[in-house]
Amino acid sequence: MPEPRASAGISPLAVVTGASSGIGEAVARLLARRGMRTVLIARSAEPLRRLAKELASFAPSAAFPLDLADVDAIETAAAEIVSAHGNALVLINNAGYNDFKPFLSLSPAEHERLLDVNYVAPARLLRALLPGMLDQARAGATPHVINVSSMSSKVGPWGHAAYAAAKSALNTLTHALDTEYSPAGVRFSVAYPGLVRTPFFDRGEYPRLLDKFRRDSISPEQAARAIVGLLDHPRLDLCIPGHYRLLDVLRAFAPTWTHRTVSRKSRLDATPHETSPPAYQAPASDDRVVFTRLPARGPQTSRADRER
Ligand SMILES: NC(=O)c1ccc[n+]([C@@H]2O[C@H](COP(=O)([O-])OP(=O)(O)OC[C@H]3O[C@@H](n4cnc5c(N)ncnc54)[C@H](OP(=O)(O)O)[C@@H]3O)[C@@H](O)[C@H]2O)c1
Repeated sequence: MPEPRASAGISPLAVVTGASSGIGEAVARLLARRGMRTVLIARSAEPLRRLAKELASFAPSAAFPLDLADVDAIETAAAEIVSAHGNALVLINNAGYNDFKPFLSLSPAEHERLLDVNYVAPARLLRALLPGMLDQARAGATPHVINVSSMSSKVGPWGHAAYAAAKSALNTLTHALDTEYSPAGVRFSVAYPGLVRTPFFDRGEYPRLLDKFRRDSISPEQAARAIVGLLDHPRLDLCIPGHYRLLDVLRAFAPTWTHRTVSRKSRLDATPHETSPPAYQAPASDDRVVFTRLPARGPQTSRADRER
């Protein structure tokens, strides 16, 4: 298996967001087994530290607790990472979450946070780390950015409005960056997982989807193998598992039929009492919806908080 090349003597560095759980944790393990140094980002410090300790038997690994909803903190955090560990050769923008509520049930703050964590944060991290990755390319290495999106960004299922919109923005950003920077030697990929058995769905109340989830989902390790496999077999877009590509074919030939079929199914999968979206009740002082930035911490809970 070819390994990513880095400057002589030092093993290459991978920055993985959302490494405290699920797909990101499994990705970090695979990268460490390839001998890559890893910087692990998420809010939950303890799981990150445990993982960093475990990975140290393969290659040096550092926990970097950070709330990616605090998008203004990202540039400074990235500068700290580069100064302590050097430029990244691989960036896996994997952290993400969904609230699983219909659009009008999301408060403006919840909507904004979904956009921040799922789109603005990975874009800010890219802004901060890409110049160093371009330096690595100039030095003869092959840097690779992998953005973890979602199949839902292609179809807009029930309860995914802000989340899927943010992931769609991430898809388009990746494609644009590939246009702009692949000639300079940086590779870009978007991974589109379908259903993966992680705590991701813990935030939603989807009785029927949870049944389907248990039946049809893949393990985080399977998803991670596909994602890390992109380093050996680079491609711009990867559906996980691969048979989900059929959706692209159906959308190309029958976009309206495909949309109606998927959206009808996703409404059925959703919580019975939520299938017709409740109206969003704006507070008296908020009769016009104004999206404002959130403070660093909000209603979204970290894995550590949930475990308490
Ligand atoms: N599971 C699926 O079926 C599925 C399907 C499609 C796409 N995806 C995508 O796959 C990616 C990984 O999700 P997963 O399935 O592995 O879910 P997960 O187990 O819930 O992991 C999500 C990761 O993101 C981190 N995260 C969430 N909010 C964060 C924040 N504000 N700041 C920093 N880190 C944050 C979490 O850590 P903390 O809580 O510690 O911060 C955790 O490490 C996500 O982008 C998700 O959208 C998953």
